Amino acid sequence: MVSYKELGLVNTREMFKKAVKGGYAIPAFNFNTMEQMQAIVQAAVETKSPVIMQVSKGARNYANATILRYMAQGAVEYAKELGCPNPQIVLHLDHGDSFELCKDCIDMGFSSVMYDGSSLPYEENIKISRQVVEYAHKYDVTVECELGVLAGVEDEVASAVSHYTKPEEVIDFATRTGCDSLAISIGTSHGAYKFTPAQCTRNAEGKLVPPPLAFNVLHEIEKKLPGFPIVLHGSSSVPQEEVDTINKYGGKLPDAIGIPEDQLREASKSAVCKINIDSDSRLAMTAAIRKYLAENPSHFDPRQYLKPARENMKKMYIHKIVNVLGSNDKL
Ligand code: G3H
Ligand code: 13P
Ligand code: ZN
Repeated sequence: MVSYKELGLVNTREMFKKAVKGGYAIPAFNFNTMEQMQAIVQAAVETKSPVIMQVSKGARNYANATILRYMAQGAVEYAKELGCPNPQIVLHLDHGDSFELCKDCIDMGFSSVMYDGSSLPYEENIKISRQVVEYAHKYDVTVECELGVLAGVEDEVASAVSHYTKPEEVIDFATRTGCDSLAISIGTSHGAYKFTPAQCTRNAEGKLVPPPLAFNVLHEIEKKLPGFPIVLHGSSSVPQEEVDTINKYGGKLPDAIGIPEDQLREASKSAVCKINIDSDSRLAMTAAIRKYLAENPSHFDPRQYLKPARENMKKMYIHKIVNVLGSNDKL
């Protein structure tokens, strides 16, 4: 058993309280590689932002659970080395799908876990969420649970259609699970194809314009649970310049579309205090690598193309922190 406190990590409790009160959201960036971890830490330190570094089951399978945990520990030390004496870094399990997985993460030093029972029947979701909360709280680890289903086409978290969170269920769910934050469904979804062209309209230049998020559902939930920390998954905005770069240099991402940043900015001012972004990092990395390799066909040292990839991700993380979530200067 390793306590996250020994690793210099923090849980989400105080962070979320301040974010809800202050009208901003904490960035929750997924990481699978060292370059993503470095870019996240550099961005958080330069903007003086708290940050949630999250690890999915897929990330654990890809990179190895122990390595990722040590990388998060390394992230704390790296932030100090970069001149931030007291970084606020959360190591969070993203979309934990069983009590055992959540327990394993808690036991190895995670400071926060998500139990995602959103695809289960309501009572079953409550039962396992409660079990996770009881275990986590013994170690002062915070727990995110989910109610409502996000549509999406991603491997570990797929669902064909979305079902908005029902505001009439949230008081019962939050009370009976004891969760510390609640992920809700208001129209976001995972991946780089959040809407089909048929669900969108087109602007004067022929670009797709997605339908707005269900702010009415969010506001209803806020009324039922005043001040309770709300989480938005599937919140990449799928920057068109990255998509265009990928397509220009041999990629094929037709009609990729995300959540407009002005809507995320709006959500950040409410009780939404954690916003999950993964796909935008994947796009930033892929765009930079495709461009670099196309322009430098004789290069084969990974450091040469991973360096601009890391720079591009860092630029994107800083942009999200400062211009979208508003978590800069909150340390
Ligand atoms: O919400 C899902 C995250 O983007 C993680 O995706 O399961 O492919 O690692 P992944
Ligand atoms: P995106 O695919 O929109 O980046 O969502 C990431 C996410 O919700 C991670 O849990
Ligand atoms: Zn998610």
